[in-house]
Formats: sequence, C-alpha cells, structure tokens
Amino acid sequence: MKRIEIDALSDLPRVAEEIINSLDGRTVVLLRGGMGAGKTTLVSRIAALLGAEDTVTSPTFALVNQYEGSECRIYHFDFYRIDRIEEVFDLGYEEYFYSGDLCLVEWPEKIEPLIPDDAMVVRITAGDDEQRIFEIE
Ligand SMILES: Nc1ncnc2c1ncn2[C@@H]1O[C@H](COP(=O)(O)OP(=O)(O)O)[C@@H](O)[C@H]1O
Ligand SMILES: [Mg+2]
Repeated sequence: MKRIEIDALSDLPRVAEEIINSLDGRTVVLLRGGMGAGKTTLVSRIAALLGAEDTVTSPTFALVNQYEGSECRIYHFDFYRIDRIEEVFDLGYEEYFYSGDLCLVEWPEKIEPLIPDDAMVVRITAGDDEQRIFEIE
C-alpha cells in the first residue's frame, strides 16, 4: 500500500502519475471516497496524463464516458445513481472491465459483486481545503 498526502490541488498530477505507474498490468481502478472527495477530478488528471484531450465530466446519467488517450482508451464509470445491479448488466459492464482498456470506476460500492478480483483500489480521504490522502493498493 502506498500513501500519498497532498495539500494542494496542483499536486494532483503527481498522484495520477503514481497511480498509472502502480497499475502493473491491472486495468480496473476503483476510486473509493465520499461525495466531493475528488474522484472525478482525479480521473481528469489521469486522463490528461494519458494524453486524452476530451473534457472529463461526471458520467452520472450515461453511467460511462469514453476518452481517447494517445495510446489507450479510457472508460470512466460513475455508479452512484444505479438502483439495481441489472442496470450494470444492461450496460454490458463485462465488455468494458475485461476489454484490457483502462476502467476508472467511481462508486464501486454500488457494484461490489461485479468487481474483478485484480482491481486496483484507490481510497481518497478529504481533509481541509485542498488537502487529500490517497491510499493506493
Ligand atoms: N487535492 C484535491 N484533489 C481533488 N479534488 C480537490 C482537491 N482539492 C480540492 N478539490 C476539489 O474538490 C472537489 C472534488 O469534486 P469531485 O472531483 O467532483 O469529487 P467526487 O467525484 O469524489 O464527488 C472539486 O471541486 C475539486 O476542485
Ligand atoms: Mg464524481
């Protein structure tokens, strides 16, 4: 487990880089943390670092957004609004999770039984102002 503490939003690219470097072949990244912890903001920094020029927004209604990195595709999920796990089956989640493309997942708590065994976990804890703690497993 790696623990990174930052005091400013401007330090977030350093966290994004650490996450990318820690993937070690894994492609599904679970972003765990409460509302406003900084999950979507972290996704935007990871996407930018991978060369995506797409605007990162919360895929709240679509459940999934797709961004094109310079050498990879990125899928960005937000399961906050799902009521039934069937909605995730309807989405065809397996096609994404087992595609080999990078999948960044907000609110994995909503789809716990569907999470691949080798998913990487990033836990975000918000402190005062721009202070955040990231625990990378
Ligand atoms: N160090 C930081 N890391 C991430 N977000 C931060 C940080 N400091 C401040 N913020 C702010 O906190 C908010 C996080 O919102 P968001 O990324 O949408 O959270 P979530 O997706 O977890 O609900 C944004 O307004 C962002 O600018
Ligand atoms: Mg979000």
